[in-house]
Amino acid sequence: MKPSIILYKALPDDLKQRLEAHFTVTQVANLHPETVEQHAEAFASAEGLLGSSEKVDASLLEKMPKLRATSTISVGYDNFDVDALNDRKILLMHTPTVLTETVADTIMALVLSTARRVVEVAERVKKGEWTSSIGPDWFGVDVHHKTLGIVGMGRIGLALAQRAHCGFNMPILYNARRQHTEAETRFQARYCDLDTLLKEADYVCLVLPYTDETHHLINAEKFALMKSSAIFINAGRGPVVDENALIEALKSGEIHAAGLDVFEQEPLPKESPLLTLPNVVALPHIGSATHETRYGMAACAVDNLIDALNDKVEKNCVNPQVRQ
Ligand code: DGY
Repeated sequence: MKPSIILYKALPDDLKQRLEAHFTVTQVANLHPETVEQHAEAFASAEGLLGSSEKVDASLLEKMPKLRATSTISVGYDNFDVDALNDRKILLMHTPTVLTETVADTIMALVLSTARRVVEVAERVKKGEWTSSIGPDWFGVDVHHKTLGIVGMGRIGLALAQRAHCGFNMPILYNARRQHTEAETRFQARYCDLDTLLKEADYVCLVLPYTDETHHLINAEKFALMKSSAIFINAGRGPVVDENALIEALKSGEIHAAGLDVFEQEPLPKESPLLTLPNVVALPHIGSATHETRYGMAACAVDNLIDALNDKVEKNCVNPQVRQ
């Protein structure tokens, strides 16, 4: 008999078929308690779980006593209670490599659109405000040759460094838990402590996961260190930044502008002051959201679950130690 799994995200037909060749699949819309209640038997017998964005915590795991592996269609896994998974020896699989280049593209898009005010001036054109040759009130600031600070030098940080160094001649500063030889040799990135980076960078790009250590890492004190001309970009996770402090820094002119793909609360509430500030470009968490990359991530997550439930885990596992 095939193992049973719960699928909580719509998949392209061919990928769903690939799953169905290996497993008995119950598809649900989400992991809310009502949904779990409604499909109690399927959750109780499931050995695998595949999807994205929903919270997977101890209370859900209690309803899934047979669960052996979870597979998320994302690189980030801050929505999983990893300790609870470890306690129950449940594998957590993710998609760390397939989205790297696409997310780095999104970050460059945020850098360029905030610097050159692309969204704001395009809106003005649509409103019919371009009635004569433009003056300084339409101007932006340069990107090329400015200093880019990267906070978090993982795969995405490295791909961003490549774009900035090779494409835009930008000197690169970075801060990370450890020095990154490849970033230093290939892209002349210079390691420095966080405060130095914040003081010296023209563009501060956060590419960090959300953990207890990174919660509100960038707060009022940190914004106060940045240049008043600094442009702040966050494409990692929203709660790494104290959003109220960011709003104050933008309103007071402590920093020049912000490009944001992630927020403390997603979707961003309609009443967020961020939506009224002209110096903010706010995106709906599109970091990896291209057709090609989202397909690649879903395919990777499907293969990860097949490997995990067949005891063939060689890569993409957050907690391989639970099976040793
Ligand atoms: C991830 O994979 O964690 C991204 O945030 C999704 O775009």
